[in-house]
Amino acid sequence: MIRVDLAHPSDFDGWREAARRLLMARATPADVVWQVKGEAADLFAAPADVLPDIEGGAAPRVPRAFPDLARYAICHRDPERFALLYRLLRRLQDQPRLLDLATDDDVYAASTMVKAVSRERHKMTAFVRFRELAGEDGVEPAFVAWFEPEHHVVRLTAPFFRDRFANMRWSILTPDVCVHWDRPALRFTPGVTQDKAPAADRLEDFWRTYYASIFNPARLKVAAMKREMPMRYWKNLPESSLIPSLIERAEGRSVAMVEAAPTLAPRRSPRIVARTEAARAPAELLEGLDGLRQLAAGCKRCPLWANATQTVFGEGQADAELLFVGEQPGDNEDLTGRPFTGPAGQIFDRALAQAGISRERAYVTNAVKHFKNEPHGKRRLHKSPNVSEINACRWWLEQETARLKPRLAIALGASAVRSLTGESHVMSHVRGQVLSSPFAGHVFVTIHPSYLLRLQDSEDREREFAAFVRDLSKAREIACGI
Ligand code: URA
Repeated sequence: MIRVDLAHPSDFDGWREAARRLLMARATPADVVWQVKGEAADLFAAPADVLPDIEGGAAPRVPRAFPDLARYAICHRDPERFALLYRLLRRLQDQPRLLDLATDDDVYAASTMVKAVSRERHKMTAFVRFRELAGEDGVEPAFVAWFEPEHHVVRLTAPFFRDRFANMRWSILTPDVCVHWDRPALRFTPGVTQDKAPAADRLEDFWRTYYASIFNPARLKVAAMKREMPMRYWKNLPESSLIPSLIERAEGRSVAMVEAAPTLAPRRSPRIVARTEAARAPAELLEGLDGLRQLAAGCKRCPLWANATQTVFGEGQADAELLFVGEQPGDNEDLTGRPFTGPAGQIFDRALAQAGISRERAYVTNAVKHFKNEPHGKRRLHKSPNVSEINACRWWLEQETARLKPRLAIALGASAVRSLTGESHVMSHVRGQVLSSPFAGHVFVTIHPSYLLRLQDSEDREREFAAFVRDLSKAREIACGI
């Protein structure tokens, strides 16, 4: 018997040198005992001689794929791996194409080992989690991870971490061997127990936040997830505490995602869209209100166009002194294509008349140009526009205002105030006041006429209608004085 001493369990260089000498000594696999330094010897093995030094001799002939196969297979935990690889090496001398025989028992066993090791190497690159250890007195911090590999992949995988985290001091501790990068070289030390590794650090919550934010409930396939992230790794992953509850809530979350309204673009996007839209629009259309109306017919700045019949643009005199701004078209306006033609429009018209204002001499428009609604049987129920929708539509109001140059804008209700001033106000605090708008000058605030439609009591309705008329008269007087 010949005994070969290997320096560590994945000592490919030691195995290769020994295999070359064994081949020249014509040793059969049965003649060899492979012994890894530090591992208990087989007590029942026959006494063995140490492999003699055999100098020179030609290198064994092997196909190109063999060294890589052996380098990976040797990292497998199967104690038979050294003998298996030596057997393959010997057979390759007579059968150079042996590795092509996938059904050969030795080839199959070796490639199964390679697959298992490759997979474990990949898992190590994915599931090592470093924890920060503060450096003492001017020493830079170190990052330490605990990992329990299924095979001997630490030395095989260490160069990946060296290249990835070249500027950090780090250690990966495992029960078999530890690897340290404290520059300029990788250093390996004996394995340790888990208590030598730091338990948690200040980045723990970041891992969890990151994981929760990339977890897509709509794509969850629990079996596939467990294949990718086998449960035996979970105990050392900070994010794993979240997994059960994320799985449990996944179905409900994905239903909610499907039902949720489309996400609106970020706040700055209307301005960006506006710039590109303005740059793309034919210059002649940007000149007057009619051209703008044509452009607005194709507006898709926010998702509201999808549920509406048409864009309801403003209408009135191009030199109007008063600009009335409502909230958004209702069901009736959506069908007629003109603002304030439905029930709220009729009250508005009556109030204007009583306040001595000619609608024909004014300009009437809305903060939002599409009807926001929710289908309910055969009816379409009005829904108030949200801030993103108001912001997305403000560009049109700015364009209308820039061409009209009114003396006074009259905001009818909270959405119009929001659009004209860019701020949200409590109506009861600002009603009857003049606010200023970054693009429309003076803004007089009053209620939206649909408020009157919602009042049940006829006395309340009359009183509030009279107050609305007073507001409109006051606005007319203010405009005269501007
Ligand atoms: N309400 C509004 O705000 N505008 C209209 O055009 C109709 C109803």
